[in-house]
Amino acid sequence: MIAIVLGTRPEIIKMSPIIRECEAWNADYFILHSGQHYSYEMDRSFFEDLNLPKPKYNLDVGSGTHAGQTARILTGIEDVLVKESPDIVLVQGDTNTVMAGALAAAKLHIRVGHVEAGLRSFDRTMPEEINRVIADHVSDYLFAPTETARRYLEREGIDENKISVTGNTIVDAVFQNREISESKANILDTLGLEPKGYFLVTSHRQENVDDPETLRSIIAGLQAVHQEYELPVIFPMHPRTRKMTERFGIQFDGITPIEPLGFLEFLQVEANARLVLTDSGGVQEETCILGVPCVTLRKNTERPETIEAGANLLVGTAATDILAGVREMLSRPRVWENPYGDGTAGRTIVTICNGLPSRNKRW
Ligand code: UD1
Ligand code: UDP
Repeated sequence: MIAIVLGTRPEIIKMSPIIRECEAWNADYFILHSGQHYSYEMDRSFFEDLNLPKPKYNLDVGSGTHAGQTARILTGIEDVLVKESPDIVLVQGDTNTVMAGALAAAKLHIRVGHVEAGLRSFDRTMPEEINRVIADHVSDYLFAPTETARRYLEREGIDENKISVTGNTIVDAVFQNREISESKANILDTLGLEPKGYFLVTSHRQENVDDPETLRSIIAGLQAVHQEYELPVIFPMHPRTRKMTERFGIQFDGITPIEPLGFLEFLQVEANARLVLTDSGGVQEETCILGVPCVTLRKNTERPETIEAGANLLVGTAATDILAGVREMLSRPRVWENPYGDGTAGRTIVTICNGLPSRNKRW
């Protein structure tokens, strides 16, 4: 039996191809939701858009401090794992849910599979970096999206026999939903946008939005982009960012903040943007896959493949650097290779978990 642990928006999206494979194979599996994300537009909206079955368990842990939230997830997951005794626990990515899920399972001597293993920003001030390192080091099966990720894991002394390069399940999710998104969503009409006639922004990293100076600087950079290009700047706002902009009393001249979008709507608005500015991990990957230039509002990234491909530029958070980065990315041709695989990562991972022969199986 496979236990699929998830808890936040990107985990639901990136686990969806694995859940679909489990459904297609009639595999013995269940979904355990930590409840780390719980607002409709951060949680249930994705189960609906992606047509996913309801989780068997929802721990409803909600928000809190890192330790408080992680502790609630740990004890909640342990109870379920003791009751269900799965053969393997799958976690995806780098959130508190992932770290707690991996740790709870490892302590019970249940095998752990880490989807999207081996990503490193080499920046331990990011909570996600700590979560990734811990999850990787207690995992038995490390599903690395790229050869770069595999190299990072091997450099840290992880047994090569535990690692499998599978591609990233975000490619599967984009391929599976891109056409559906074009036929079902009409967010461009709703927002009055023309293809390639607007900029799209997402920002929610703790180190960016919880600091008033950094957040103000990002907003000033976005305003400078709006003034130079005279195009709308659409900003679907993560609840953390909404909360912080209200707390700091930040105004949005020339920027259009909107509620977080569903996946189908977001894919449409992302694929048709002139350029995307973001500090999201998943959005750096998706823009690279969709052929849309990306400017990343950070000094480092655990997605170096997007930089090497020429699809993404790191600019940090200074307003002048943000504008300069946009100019630079708009001057580059929009041609690069997708480094994240062919959209079969979900199938490969489920094949391995079911113990069936697989092209990528290395143990
Ligand atoms: C979490 C992950 C981050 C991931 C992001 C995806 C950690 C440490 N962080 O960050 O890696 O990129 O999810 O979006 O695990 N809130 C709501 N409704 C919700 C969820 C959150 O209003 O459904 C608000 C609350 O005010 C909460 C704040 O957002 O305090 C932050 O939520 P939290 O889950 O702690 O971190 P994220 O910023 O969402
Ligand atoms: N996303 C979405 N609606 C939005 C913003 C993002 O559906 O309004 C999706 C996006 O397509 C990507 C994922 O959310 O797949 C990224 O999640 P997020 O930025 O919250 O987390 P990260 O990837 O940084 O962990």
